[in-house]
Amino acid sequence: MKKILLTGGLGYIGSHTAVELLQNNYDIVIIDNLSNSRLEVKDSIKQITNKSFKFIKEDLKNKEALFKVFEQENFYAVVHFAASKAVGESVENPLKYYNNNIISSINLLEAMKKYNVKNLIFSSSACVYGDLDDLPYYESMPTTPTNPYGRTKYFIEEIIKDVYTADKTNNFVILRYFNPVGAHDSFLIGEDCEKPANLMPLVARAATGKLGKLKVFGDNYNTPDGTGVRDYIHVVDLAKGHLKALEKIADKKGFLNTYNLGTGVGYSVLDLINTFNEICGNKVKYEFAERRAGDAPVSYASSQKAEKELNWKATRSLKDMCESSYQFELRNN
Ligand SMILES: NC(=O)c1ccc[n+]([C@@H]2O[C@H](COP(=O)([O-])OP(=O)(O)OC[C@H]3O[C@@H](n4cnc5c(N)ncnc54)[C@H](O)[C@@H]3O)[C@@H](O)[C@H]2O)c1
Repeated sequence: MKKILLTGGLGYIGSHTAVELLQNNYDIVIIDNLSNSRLEVKDSIKQITNKSFKFIKEDLKNKEALFKVFEQENFYAVVHFAASKAVGESVENPLKYYNNNIISSINLLEAMKKYNVKNLIFSSSACVYGDLDDLPYYESMPTTPTNPYGRTKYFIEEIIKDVYTADKTNNFVILRYFNPVGAHDSFLIGEDCEKPANLMPLVARAATGKLGKLKVFGDNYNTPDGTGVRDYIHVVDLAKGHLKALEKIADKKGFLNTYNLGTGVGYSVLDLINTFNEICGNKVKYEFAERRAGDAPVSYASSQKAEKELNWKATRSLKDMCESSYQFELRNN
């Protein structure tokens, strides 16, 4: 059984990927410092899969402790989710982001080198593209991130490429996620946050009446209905992308590649609200507000490369995604 280390595996995307890996007969070890997740998620993953796994509460910035884990375990691959991820916070506190995201990644790459672990799947972000005029975003397009969080992802991508150049027996896959939403069908895990910053959980909260009026930032963008457009992807579809990436490198002796994981379709804020209103009976109340600085008007992926080379394609519709977020919100948060 292949043993996979998931850093940040109790977080939103990591926990859904843990479920998919366990259900596909991988063994997993999760390291998480619980800075943005709860220990109960561990039990929820076990409950969903009926499988056990090892959890280590540790910070990746603690290099000595990380090396000890690598010394004790024989990892086949690492999936590296652990990071701080809030764009707004990264603008206010950039050093927290450079420290946590970059130091953690360097420690991890050093441990992999020392203990001869060759396979890495890295969680990057659509943020690395910044605000480009050409759409959709292809992996070959320039990367000009517009905030510190996006820059940490860009720098880590570059570090990974340099490490590969120095040792081309490594197999490294960089996955650029677009906008993950929704929850596992059991609703035992999902985007579990006290103060959501992303749009979908906020709309879900407006739909369940826990948030007064939803603020829609900008109604005069050059888009069909004037509101911002994004590529939303169901978190379970996204999680399955990691399995495809692991399958891709299974027989490789030197591999480096970058893939967008998105649906390839952009939906506007009003598309989301209207879909929610169909589901919950017109409960989402909203008002328009000024545009926010730094928000790109439109961002969506080309998903062709992942489709062709990873044999992966998102399957869930916007209605599925809204329903999933709504049901999770009703049962949790
Ligand atoms: N959710 C998104 O919208 C999105 C979009 C694109 C990319 N990503 C990236 O995907 C990855 C996972 O995102 P998520 O939404 O699941 O985030 P999350 O915050 O839910 O999960 C990250 C996990 O990493 C842990 N962690 C953070 N720093 C750590 C450290 N130094 N040592 C050990 N554990 C640490 C946190 O406790 C958390 O459980 C991140 O790298 C994020 O940047 C997320």
